[in-house]
Amino acid sequence: MSAPKGKMVSFTIDGQQHQVSVGAASDGSTAPVTASTSLADYLRDQCGLRGTKVMCRGGMCGACVVTARVTDPATGQTEVRAVNSCLAPVHNCQGWQIETVQAIGDRKAGYHPAQSRLAQMNGTQCGYCSPGMVMSMYSLLESGEAVTPQSVEQHLDGNLCRCTGYRPILDAFKTFVPEADEKTQQIIKDIEDVAPSGSKAGLCAKKCSGGGGGGCVGCPRTARLASDGAEKWSYPTSLAELCAIIKANPADKTLKLVRGNTGTGVYHDAGQPDGYVSLLKVPELSQVTQTSSALTLGAAVSLSRVIEEFQKLSSTAGFGHFSDMASHLLLVANTPVRNAGSWAGNLMLKQTHGDFPSDVFLLLAAAGGRLQIADEDAATTEISVEQLLSEDMARKVIVSVTLPTLDETKYVFKSYKITPRAISAHAYVNAAFVLPLDASFTVVEKPTLLFGGISADFVHAANTEAFLEGRSLTDEQTVQGALAALQAEVVPTPDPAEADPAYRRSLACALLYKVVLRVLGDQVPAPLRSGGEDLTHPVSSGTQQFDTDQTLWPVNKAVPKLEAQAQTSGEAKYTGDEPAEPDELVAVYVQTTIANGKVASVDTSAALAVPGVAGYVSAADIAGVNNICSYGDTVEELFTSGQVLYYGQAVGLIVADTYRAARTAAGLVKITYTDVQPPVLTIKDALKKQGGSATTTPAAKTTSKQGVRQVIGEFSIGGQYHFTMETQTVRAVPRDDDQLDLFSATQDMRDVNKVVSQITTLPMHKINMSVRRLGGGYGSKLQHPSRVASAAAVAALTVNKPVRLVLDIRTNMTLLGGRLPYLIQYQAEADETTGKISSLQIKFTADAGAVGYAADDTSLALDTVTNVYEAEGWQTEGTAVLTNTASNTWCRAPGTVQGVSGIECVMDHLAHELGMDPWALRQANFFGPDTKFRKGGNRATDYDVFMQMVTEMFSEADIDARKADIAQFNQDNRWRKRALSLVPVRWPILLFARYPTIVSIFKDDGTVAVSTGGVEMGQGLNTKVAQVCAKVLGIPLELVSVKPNMNIINPNGDATGGSVGSDMSSLATKAACEEMNERLAPFKAEGRAWADVVKRAFNLGVNLTAYHYQKPILTPYNIFALAAVELEMDVLTGQYRLNRTDLYEDAGQSLSPAIDIGQCEGAFIMGMGLHLGEENRYDTETGRKLTDSSWNYYVPSSKDIPTDFRVKLIKNNDNPIGIFNSKDAPGTVEKAQTACQLSPEMFVIS
Ligand SMILES: Cc1cc2nc3c(=O)[nH]c(=O)nc-3n(C[C@H](O)[C@H](O)[C@H](O)COP(=O)(O)OP(=O)(O)OC[C@H]3O[C@@H](n4cnc5c(N)ncnc54)[C@H](O)[C@@H]3O)c2cc1C
Ligand code: FES
Ligand code: FES
Repeated sequence: MSAPKGKMVSFTIDGQQHQVSVGAASDGSTAPVTASTSLADYLRDQCGLRGTKVMCRGGMCGACVVTARVTDPATGQTEVRAVNSCLAPVHNCQGWQIETVQAIGDRKAGYHPAQSRLAQMNGTQCGYCSPGMVMSMYSLLESGEAVTPQSVEQHLDGNLCRCTGYRPILDAFKTFVPEADEKTQQIIKDIEDVAPSGSKAGLCAKKCSGGGGGGCVGCPRTARLASDGAEKWSYPTSLAELCAIIKANPADKTLKLVRGNTGTGVYHDAGQPDGYVSLLKVPELSQVTQTSSALTLGAAVSLSRVIEEFQKLSSTAGFGHFSDMASHLLLVANTPVRNAGSWAGNLMLKQTHGDFPSDVFLLLAAAGGRLQIADEDAATTEISVEQLLSEDMARKVIVSVTLPTLDETKYVFKSYKITPRAISAHAYVNAAFVLPLDASFTVVEKPTLLFGGISADFVHAANTEAFLEGRSLTDEQTVQGALAALQAEVVPTPDPAEADPAYRRSLACALLYKVVLRVLGDQVPAPLRSGGEDLTHPVSSGTQQFDTDQTLWPVNKAVPKLEAQAQTSGEAKYTGDEPAEPDELVAVYVQTTIANGKVASVDTSAALAVPGVAGYVSAADIAGVNNICSYGDTVEELFTSGQVLYYGQAVGLIVADTYRAARTAAGLVKITYTDVQPPVLTIKDALKKQGGSATTTPAAKTTSKQGVRQVIGEFSIGGQYHFTMETQTVRAVPRDDDQLDLFSATQDMRDVNKVVSQITTLPMHKINMSVRRLGGGYGSKLQHPSRVASAAAVAALTVNKPVRLVLDIRTNMTLLGGRLPYLIQYQAEADETTGKISSLQIKFTADAGAVGYAADDTSLALDTVTNVYEAEGWQTEGTAVLTNTASNTWCRAPGTVQGVSGIECVMDHLAHELGMDPWALRQANFFGPDTKFRKGGNRATDYDVFMQMVTEMFSEADIDARKADIAQFNQDNRWRKRALSLVPVRWPILLFARYPTIVSIFKDDGTVAVSTGGVEMGQGLNTKVAQVCAKVLGIPLELVSVKPNMNIINPNGDATGGSVGSDMSSLATKAACEEMNERLAPFKAEGRAWADVVKRAFNLGVNLTAYHYQKPILTPYNIFALAAVELEMDVLTGQYRLNRTDLYEDAGQSLSPAIDIGQCEGAFIMGMGLHLGEENRYDTETGRKLTDSSWNYYVPSSKDIPTDFRVKLIKNNDNPIGIFNSKDAPGTVEKAQTACQLSPEMFVIS
């Protein structure tokens, strides 16, 4: 592939030729492309290909994945790879052939099997992650690599999904494994029958020889776009040319060498260089050469290729250690990042940022890598990988690395990477060891012990290396001495954004001990041996069990979601996907940089001078009331009028013609502050500030009652970021007649409507709203959209132009709060023989954040704290405090999760105190047939349903036998432990919401359109509504279409939340359809076909539109669930794995079982994230939230899910209230290890 001519880059997108060249746009306006424009922005903004999504813009979420065919300049071969279009600069795509989700299949051409299988097997909920998932799978299929269950899971390691819990996605894609069993083949056949796959959709048909140059109908003309940054890019085609470019660069100008540009995913604030040099066309940098004594890798060789080379060579003598290195590299970043990112780019990140816990650096350094470096005169020198850290790399380029062979008979090579989640996470601590050993395990020369994640300077554990030399590892004294030396020299730098220094030091020692156990193998007692093994994550699988009653179909039938196919093909449009109006502006927030104080002044002069900036709006521009709360007495300002309540609070909004201009300008707004106070960031600090007691009474057993034991304790459940793949998004478009079209991604249209009205003074009826779908909600789109929509509305009305406001992930995470953190304090007494609780006081204190809008969250905790227990005499209390953090809000199962966790913690604590089996203690406290719950009542069947669930679980999940096995396993293993936890849940649901619904029949063809008060956000509301509508009207499901929620139909409806959206919308639909049935009854009685019935009815004056306003049903009822979770933990590191999970839910007569199963799985995994991984960290000095991106906030990945995940909807439970008898429904790695209170003295070998 030749370099581009002059200053032009060309590539194909979906078969069409694109050229981006230097200059202004054809109309003379600012060029649409800049030097740093990403491929994602190019696709979405310049090509209108909005099937490709963006979220994190950092290579972590995978929403933006596309397939790229790239020719290797050294071999001339074309590789097919998944890449993150958010990280790839469009100017670095020279010669690429790019395919997007919209080109591989669509409704006209037919869907690609990856699209149809994902859709038909319920692999989508909100669907925002789906295009990226499809493209990762498509890339694997096109790459020619063998498709195995392992490769499918591996290739999806860069795609996050917050809704589904991954199991259905993995299942759908594993159907591509050629050796599919009979059942899978039948599934594939069924899917093909429903959705036959077609030819590629948007691809050029190549009917002429123009290669996209135009000339035939099927061959689109070359798209030409101007770039005001093209001249900044260079494309050398040889090393000599590259060095010449470096030499010619003026000393005062910065030049960035670019391979994958993935480094910007880690260090996003690195600033804009003056020039860029693409390394992709330099053959010398892409070469891989092997001799019998070494492997040499060019600097632009991607990490994926490095892994492949290592795997190929690992069975060759001298290269055996490459096997371990390849396995380690598979844990670096994720597939799309490794496809684009180079090892040399990684080393340079380490070179520039000493504290970067680079895995690549550790591995290459431990393997004795030698770097070839060229200077601007093309003179090369060789240095060790370690020397790079102190090398002045200005005006130099890494050319290659040479890795020598290692004598496997003498050296043991082993590396570790301990992370907060299974994949796609940077290390807490990583290590690489090379131990030269003789047959008696004596360390015959100085070993290599390298560590990352400790401090910017610490690499070698030099003292420990020296200590070990000449000593035998079989000697207890050696191990203890080495651990003592290591403990003394490892001094981790405190970093509030990272794990605690004590943990990192403990981990470093544990890793050294681990490698010793591994090396010694059978030499150590059997119980210690598993301590030397890695905790791996095998391929996962799952089963789903539910009953279906065919007489009720299409209700109760497992159908795919209505919009699934549109989601997986990228055809489904979300709020931010709508094209811009010609004069549309983009807005970016200006946020505070203190957490507690006052704004003294805001200087916007520099910001307003940025070309393209249209204005700045702030509190002064609010015509109405500066309050985003729509009810109660709580006031939260849209833009601060002076008081600063948290770091990241909104001060104003910059509006500009491009995001780039708005972002630049927002960064130039100068804010000064007065009266700056230390921030209050935790519940305990807030309680102290209020003068209250933040401590629980000491854990002494003060009871004097005979035969009664007491426990006193407390525990915290932290906050949780909702992590919707679609961030907060709104477009505000002023219209004639003082109207405003508002496209808000909201779960609560009425709230947005009301708040925008109170802030702008526009009457509510002048605000036109409609919500098609959300890319995830989980509660984050209940209150927060009102804030974002009002800001956009104020801006749009001020500048009198359409304004688009799409929050980037950092603004989303810092401007807005998440789940309320809780402190739960309790004191309980129980009979020491029976375990029956005789008294309990439990107090829930929630952190509402800056204002108390969601402070009533604790009332839900109080509703659920009694869970499945007889709670006579229990004293419960709920309260909330304010802190200098963003206002928190409801998040999936708000309050409930803390209520249930609170009491279950008490149960476990009591069981431990009494030495009882935890389940036996629970059983002793179960509710009975006559128990009356505070909320949820207790219907006659409740007890039976719950007991049926328990009995089935014990028998089907083999609980008793597995408990015995686990006890034995724990006895046999000192450093690996298993546990089986059984947790019951009762959730009292109240169908509180009011939803209006309209059902219209088209008389000409008998099709039916429905619009409900509920919002579709992935929970399958539209599908359930359609099923109910079809059932009640007695028509095929295909005749029903569900339309967006609109405020003309639904001006006063409630929010979609509290798990009642689907039920209440279905109930309203049912009532509207029943009314319609009454009108149509005479015509149906004539025995006519449906189409004739409606035609005749219309002709005789029947109104074919029915409207039903569904009132709340204020009798709560109980839903039960039971989970048995088996977890295995590596005590030395804190890593864990869920070996098996059995999850039963009583869904009554499920309206749509496949959808309900999906909800159970997704909710379980989100709960797992809350309890086992997700954590907010703040800078205690400034109050800044440090976990503000996907780089440092970890939601579960597809490798964290249970290895064996069994979900069952309990059958045959009737429920007279629900519709058709339906019912809707962190201990981190660091903390787990810390809780084990390890100390090196425990690390024995005998
Ligand atoms: C989401 C994500 C997760 C990650 N997780 C991990 C992880 O777990 N462990 C880990 O070790 N790394 C991790 N990384 C880092 C990743 O490995 C690097 O981003 C990647 O290897 C950089 O390669 P690149 O080709 O994209 O470099 P670029 O981004 O193109 O360049 C990075 C820097 O290196 C310079 N450079 C590039 N090539 C040369 C050269 N030949 N000579 C001199 N300078 C050069 C560039 O000018 C630039 O300053 C992660 C990255 C991301 C985005
Ligand atoms: S948007 Fe590209 S990986 Fe998240
Ligand atoms: S379906 Fe995956 S994020 Fe919603």
